[in-house]
Amino acid sequence: MLAPALKRLAVRAACENDLAAALALLNWEKARNPWIGRVPDLLRNAVADPTGEHRACVAERDAEVVGLGVYGMVAGAVRTGMLYAVLVAPRSRRSGIGSRIVFHVTTELASVAARTIFAEVPGDPCLVRYRALLIAYGFVEESRIDDYYRDGVPQIVSRFDLP
Ligand SMILES: CC(C)(COP(=O)(O)OP(=O)(O)OC[C@H]1O[C@@H](n2cnc3c(N)ncnc32)[C@H](O)[C@@H]1OP(=O)(O)O)[C@@H](O)C(=O)NCCC(=O)NCCS
Repeated sequence: MLAPALKRLAVRAACENDLAAALALLNWEKARNPWIGRVPDLLRNAVADPTGEHRACVAERDAEVVGLGVYGMVAGAVRTGMLYAVLVAPRSRRSGIGSRIVFHVTTELASVAARTIFAEVPGDPCLVRYRALLIAYGFVEESRIDDYYRDGVPQIVSRFDLP
C-alpha cells in the first residue's frame, strides 16, 4: 500500500509550465548546496528540447511541484545513462518522493535501452542524503577519485545496472 504522501503524487516529464516552480526549488537549494550550479541550465535544456541529451521530470502533488529529476543518455557512449540531480522540496523530504523520482528516471532510461546509469557525486557532507538515496535505491558506489573537485572533495561514481 502506498504511503499517504505518495498517493496523490505523479512523476512526469517536466514542461515549460513547471519551470518557474522547479527553478525556485533549485534556487532555494543553491544557498545550501554549491554543487547544483549546472542543474538549472540542464533543466532548461531538457524542457526546451525534450528529445535531446538532457531529460527532466517533476514530481507533482495537488498541482504543486514538490521535486525534480534531471538525467539523460550520455552522448556518444553506448547504452549509458547519467543521473545529474534529484531534488525534493524540503518539507516533503523523507516520504519516498526521491525514490519515486529515481524510479521514473531508471524506467525512462531503460525504455531508451540504457544498460547502465551513472551518477557522479561530490563527496561533500551536504550530499550525504543524496548518496543515501542512491544506495537505498540500489546504486553501488563503485569508485572514488580523491581530490577530484578540489583538495579534500572526491568524486564518487555510483552505478546502477539495468536488467
Ligand atoms: C536527496 C533527496 C533528493 C532525497 O529525497 P527524499 O524524498 O527525502 O528521499 P526518500 O524519502 O525517497 O528516501 C529514500 C531513502 O533514501 C535514504 N535517505 C534519504 N534521505 C535521507 C537522510 N536525510 N538520511 C539518511 N538516509 C536518507 C533512506 O534510505 C531513505 O529510505 P527510508 O526513508 O525508508 O529510510 C533530498 O534529501 C534532497 O532534495 N536533498 C537536497 C538536494 C540534493 O542534495 N540533491 C542531490 C544533488 S542534485
